[in-house]
Amino acid sequence: MPGSVPASGEATWPKDVGIIAMEIYFPSQYVDQAELEQFDGVSAGKYTVGLGQARMGFCSDREDINSLCLTVVQRLMERNCLSYDSVGRLEVGTETIIDKSKSVKTVIMQLFEESGNTDVEGIDTTNACYGGTAALFNAVNWVESSSWDGRYAVVVAGDIAVYATGGARPTGGAGAVAMLVGPNAPLVFDRGLRGTHMQHAYDFYKPDMVSEYPVVDGKLSIECYLSALDRCYSVYRNKIHAQWQREGVEKRFSLEDFGYMVFHSPYCKLVQKSLARLMLNDFLSHPNPNTETGLFSGLEAFRQIKPEETYFDRDVEKAFMKASTQLFEDKTKASLLVSNQNGNMYTPSVYGCLASVLAQYTSEQLAGQRIGLFSYGSGFAATLYSLRVSQDSTPGSVLDKLLSSLCDLKARLDSRRKVSPAVFAENMKLREETHHLANYIPQGSVDELFPGTWYLSRVDEKHRREYAKRSLNDDLPLEAGRVNSTTTTEHIPSPAKKMPRFPGTTGGPEAVAISNGDH
Ligand code: ACO
Repeated sequence: MPGSVPASGEATWPKDVGIIAMEIYFPSQYVDQAELEQFDGVSAGKYTVGLGQARMGFCSDREDINSLCLTVVQRLMERNCLSYDSVGRLEVGTETIIDKSKSVKTVIMQLFEESGNTDVEGIDTTNACYGGTAALFNAVNWVESSSWDGRYAVVVAGDIAVYATGGARPTGGAGAVAMLVGPNAPLVFDRGLRGTHMQHAYDFYKPDMVSEYPVVDGKLSIECYLSALDRCYSVYRNKIHAQWQREGVEKRFSLEDFGYMVFHSPYCKLVQKSLARLMLNDFLSHPNPNTETGLFSGLEAFRQIKPEETYFDRDVEKAFMKASTQLFEDKTKASLLVSNQNGNMYTPSVYGCLASVLAQYTSEQLAGQRIGLFSYGSGFAATLYSLRVSQDSTPGSVLDKLLSSLCDLKARLDSRRKVSPAVFAENMKLREETHHLANYIPQGSVDELFPGTWYLSRVDEKHRREYAKRSLNDDLPLEAGRVNSTTTTEHIPSPAKKMPRFPGTTGGPEAVAISNGDH
């Protein structure tokens, strides 16, 4: 079992609370953004260069928020050899709402049935892309509170990010991230270091209950994102200065103090601009920056600018993006692997960025580093906080185990199937027309899901959803983009089947029965 949990939560104040293990799930199919540019009739480079996106993952009508979360939670549990009764809290962050009352969390409880463990706190949390972070904070707070009973918390962030046709559509994506939270973690939450900014705005919202699509004011959402970043960074900086002062450390905080900096990533270009924005904040808050040599050289002309007037100022943007090029390469670029390849997953986006960092650096490179995370959810809610990577990078350490579990990330992304933009559009239309139907059997192919993926098998006349899991051993050849194929489905009444082999993994223990599919 990763990390270690004391027998009783009462005995000691838990030490080094944070993320012990992570699991990421994304759909097995994607559309190429350069092909999408052609298909949409926009200028070549708009999505790939202008937004910085290469591929976008998407789901057919076979997957919904429940199935994504079932898949990622089961995979987290099985790959880490965790028993379901070792979990005392399960939190879900999502903005993919398919029921106004019943939570995704209660659907996931089916995975716990065989263990008999129903003593599991936590429920769903929603505010656009911020819900996953709010859920994670709830979990960490629980472990650090008088409510803690000594068991792990599991947090899952998942979403299907789809937009109507138009400029926002290429910024979609889909996926889920599950995280195991507890003491003695390799990624430890820095105490007292959260800079939060929350404010009312209609930048992106979902008022139409029968549509999966948001109403989005793209430019306003960018302004809200960047203004939240400024505010959160300033609060974070003040808090760390106060902490350092109490500890007798005489030092100015700057971006350099983060070994790595990851952001919620609606699209990669905005993240690169955001890193430059943090450098602008460092520059403006510095009492006496050196503009002759070093990081800020040549930036003197921007000394008097007002940040709130510069969200779309090309000169400021260009100058600070240029000045922060190396910082971006060193601290942020690697975090964009999943975002660039799979798109905006909404709540899991920032955690997909964290997983991308963990997948691409060695434990020696990461040990002891501070990772900054900026989480943004429209409406809007945002926090900038930090994690400390544990010092122990030896083989078999908790850090080594976490990194090993993610080292196949790129191979898994590369193993997905490309479909044409026409098939992607056909799938979007299918979801549009059917995602809310009762008495419905999804048409999307099961054969094309990754082996071991949970999927929606049926919605009955009372809107009750049933799920089944794609066979593990049934590695049929995949054919791109069929929406109306026959399905080869494993019924899962028996726990005696072998776990799926996700591409590049070593598989895991036995599968668990959940529901009676209709196949
Ligand atoms: N080659 C290179 N770059 C190009 C090309 C080209 N041929 N054509 C356009 N571009 C550039 C533009 O100059 C622009 O760059 P800039 O952002 O540096 O100005 C970029 O590509 C995008 O082009 P726009 O014309 O601004 O695109 P549009 O207005 O159609 O849509 C937007 C962009 C607003 C981001 C849209 O995709 C959207 O609304 N997305 C959803 C909202 C969103 O993601 N908001 C971010 C925070 S909130 C959240 O996470 C949901």
